[in-house]
Amino acid sequence: MGEVSQRNIKHVIAVASGKGGVGKSSVAGLAAVTLARMGYKVGIMDADITGPSIPKIFGLVGSPAMSGDYLLPLETKLGIKVMSLNLLLSNNEQPVIWRGPLIANTVLQFWNEVAWGDLDYLLVDLPPGTGDVPLTVMKSMPLNGVIMVSSPQDLAGMVVGKAINMAATLEIPILGLVENMSFLVCPKCGTKMEIFGPSRGEELSKRYNLRLIGKLPVDPLLVSLSDRGRIEEYSRDEIFRNLPDLVQNL
Ligand SMILES: Nc1ncnc2c1ncn2[C@@H]1O[C@H](COP(=O)(O)OP(=O)(O)OP(=O)(O)O)[C@@H](O)[C@H]1O
Ligand SMILES: [Mg+2]
Repeated sequence: MGEVSQRNIKHVIAVASGKGGVGKSSVAGLAAVTLARMGYKVGIMDADITGPSIPKIFGLVGSPAMSGDYLLPLETKLGIKVMSLNLLLSNNEQPVIWRGPLIANTVLQFWNEVAWGDLDYLLVDLPPGTGDVPLTVMKSMPLNGVIMVSSPQDLAGMVVGKAINMAATLEIPILGLVENMSFLVCPKCGTKMEIFGPSRGEELSKRYNLRLIGKLPVDPLLVSLSDRGRIEEYSRDEIFRNLPDLVQNL
């Protein structure tokens, strides 16, 4: 089987941040859900090999089948194709204790040896920081752009700055910044509360000359749906609807 039939992907977008736990996987998941709901064919490559969370938030279990030499991604309810190391481990509590080069190699296999088929968008959920895997993905995959994720807790945005500089050094366009956990809306009175300190979204996007894609609130519903593998039922994700335009205008 030729490579063309295994993979015909129009746009590859990575989701990155300088720091862990700011919501990259949630952003990658929500962006994929929005695009899928808009009618696009979408895939998510979980490149966070040591801490893979994509299968969990989509409630995916089971092992990918093989088609010839290629691995077949699993599909979510909305038809989002997912590949993650978690799906290949016999026990998903098994820790991955490989060294950097081996991990980076696995990510490349997820690119070269998975039958992604026809996709409008492949979202790549990166591990935090600027280590081996983000570097390998940015250097070796034909990325159209990167979505940067920050949260108001980021120390003066310094950490997101590192990831931004890395993309700039490798000449990868940044689609924009998503500030996650930006505020909390009081369920009783509707007041917006900046519980992690004042939003830095505008300031950061200005400092690094990035578009502010949008801000996501702290939302207990997102956590509870994600914990139950039902992120596809979350519908407060309007900020991702303009992604196709952003990609088009790169
Ligand atoms: N807007 C939000 N409101 C409430 N909880 C959130 C929000 N975004 C993410 N979370 C929760 O915070 C935790 C971390 O989110 P997530 O896994 O998306 O971060 P991450 O940046 O991918 O982390 P890692 O660096 O470990 O890969 C999860 O439990 C997730 O459900
Ligand atoms: Mg993650």
